[in-house]
Amino acid sequence: MIALPTPPSLDLKGKRALVTGASSGIGQGCAVSLAAAGAHVTCAARGADRLAETVDAMTRTGYAAKALVLDQNDLGALEPVLMDGAFDIVVNSAGLARHTPALDTTPEDYDAVMSVNLRSAYFLSAWAAKAMIAAEKPGSIIHISSQMGHVGGLDRAVYCASKHGLEGMVKAMAIEWGKSNVRINTVAPTFIRTPLSQPTFDNPERAAWIMEKIKLPRPGEVEDIMGAVLYLASGASAMVTGTSLLIDGGWTAG
Ligand SMILES: NC(=O)c1ccc[n+]([C@@H]2O[C@H](COP(=O)([O-])OP(=O)(O)OC[C@H]3O[C@@H](n4cnc5c(N)ncnc54)[C@H](OP(=O)(O)O)[C@@H]3O)[C@@H](O)[C@H]2O)c1
Repeated sequence: MIALPTPPSLDLKGKRALVTGASSGIGQGCAVSLAAAGAHVTCAARGADRLAETVDAMTRTGYAAKALVLDQNDLGALEPVLMDGAFDIVVNSAGLARHTPALDTTPEDYDAVMSVNLRSAYFLSAWAAKAMIAAEKPGSIIHISSQMGHVGGLDRAVYCASKHGLEGMVKAMAIEWGKSNVRINTVAPTFIRTPLSQPTFDNPERAAWIMEKIKLPRPGEVEDIMGAVLYLASGASAMVTGTSLLIDGGWTAG
C-alpha cells in the first residue's frame, strides 16, 4: 500500500490559548471555537461581568476556560500576561471603532482607536512571541483585523489606518519570527453583527451600503469567523504566516 499524505488536524488538546476581547462578539466566538477544539482558553477583556458570563457559559458547556480582567491599553498590565509562561495561541480581538468623516476626527478619537487597535496589538504580539521563542515553542498569533485593513471605507479613516497598520506590522513580524516557528496572521472580516457594528447596521444608508458591497446574500455572523481562527490556530495552517485571511463575502473582490 502506498503511504497517503497525513490529513490536517484541528485538534488543540493540550494547547494554552489567550483570547482578548473574549467577552463579546468575534472574540467570544474565537474563545468558543478554540475551547471546543480542546484548548484551555484564557478569556480577557475589561468588563468583569460580561467576561464572567462568557466564562461561566463556557465552563458549563464543558470547555476549559478562565477569565482575566485586563485593559490592554495598560501595557504594564499586559506584559506579564504574555511573559509569565508562553501561550501556544494568542488571538487578539479587542478593538474599538469611532467612525466619523476624516475632517471631523478629533485627536482624542484618533488616540483611542490607535491605542487599542494598533499600539496594544503591537506589544501584545512582541511579548507573546518573546515568550514563545524563549520557551522554544511553536506558536500562532492571530489578530482580528478587518476588510478595512485592505480597502478604505466610509467615515473610517482612523479605523482603516489602524487596521492597515496592523496588516503591515504582521507582515514585518512574520519575517522576523518565522525561523523560530512563531506564526502571525490576521483574520479580516467584513461586517459581522456584534455590538461594535450595530450602529452601522442601524443606519439604513450604511446597511444598504453593506448589502451592496457584500457579494453573498447576507452580512457576516460571528460563526463565519470561528472556522478561520481555528484553522490559523491549528497545525492545519502550519505553513501559513504573514498573511491575512479575508472573510468578507466577496467585498474586496470588486
Ligand atoms: N463587528 C464587525 O463588523 C467587525 C468587522 C471587522 C473587524 N472587526 C474587528 O473585530 C474585533 C472585535 O470586534 P467585535 O465586533 O467583536 O466588537 P465587540 O463586540 O464590541 O467586542 C469588543 C471586545 O473587546 C474588548 N475590549 C475593548 N477594548 C478593550 C481594551 N482596551 N482592553 C481589553 N479588552 C477590550 C471588549 O470588552 P470590554 O469593553 O469589556 O473591555 C469586548 O470584549 C475588533 O478588532 C474589530 O475591529 C469587527
